[in-house]
Amino acid sequence: MIKKGIVLAGGIGTRMSPLTKSVNKQLLPVYDKPLLFYPLSILMLAGIKDILIIVNKGQLQQFKKLLPNGKNLGIKITFAEQKYPKGLPDAFIIGEKFIGNDSVALILGDNFFYGQNLTKKLQECRRLKNGAKIFLHPVNNPSQYGVVKINDRNKIIKILEKPKKFISNFAITGLYFFDNKVVKLSKALKPSKRKEIEIVDLLKKYNKKNKLSAEFIGRGGAWLDTGSIKDFYEASSFVSALENRQGLKIACLEEIALGNKWVNKKHILSAIKFYGKCEYSNYLWKLIK
Ligand code: DAU
Repeated sequence: MIKKGIVLAGGIGTRMSPLTKSVNKQLLPVYDKPLLFYPLSILMLAGIKDILIIVNKGQLQQFKKLLPNGKNLGIKITFAEQKYPKGLPDAFIIGEKFIGNDSVALILGDNFFYGQNLTKKLQECRRLKNGAKIFLHPVNNPSQYGVVKINDRNKIIKILEKPKKFISNFAITGLYFFDNKVVKLSKALKPSKRKEIEIVDLLKKYNKKNKLSAEFIGRGGAWLDTGSIKDFYEASSFVSALENRQGLKIACLEEIALGNKWVNKKHILSAIKFYGKCEYSNYLWKLIK
């Protein structure tokens, strides 16, 4: 069972400047909560309680204000800094000590997932003992993502980062499950032309040994990544439409913790005190009424 998870929430957010000049992208709002809550909720839904959040240098305090510790959520949160964006596999190098001898899940801080059966799929992925697992989803603009070509038996036959020429519309989403070899393999990666170590190079290594498998989010599920201001608006509209229709929140961390029986009424009361009088706290009240 994978017990550890990493949220990679660094980056400089250049594409979203001036919004990101003084605030980390992952702390900007997607409708009624910071973007960070959404990827964090995915790890919690998977049942992962030991979480490392990697942030960019100089922005640790901002994150600690939002998540001083995981007590109210029944989880353990550790923070680490990344000096500059060296590439996604740097998460496993920075996280070496945190990972220890375990397997690990990685989610990118700007990725948003929603859908039926997602929790079940996540919990199944946690059982990974050997190799690596990725989540795929079709997109309209594959040239902006890591992309895989699969054959009719769902075997991955090609992996490319942001291919200029069309090979497939299956994008690799920012959610990955790896065995412990990931640390050693990440350390051996050489920077690409854009001077970053690449997650696709890591995936290729696993695939070469037939150790990479893919899971599909499916048509009923949503995957959004929030690289631009337009993406933020679209994700916010999506959350707003669903939440206001159903009266249920997406990615309410305390609700997930309560559902997982990691916390009780006392913790929720403490969270309400922490957030103060606000709509989010009103929702928490309803949960324990
Ligand atoms: O969103 C899925 C895509 O994410 C995958 O399909 C690609 O294969 C993968 O390379 C990645 O592509 P992006 O171009 O979206 O990656 P980006 O550089 O924008 O980084 C994604 C998030 O990770 C973003 O919130 C910033 C953070 N990050 C990124 C790097 C490279 C870090 O915290 N540190 C880093 O070193």
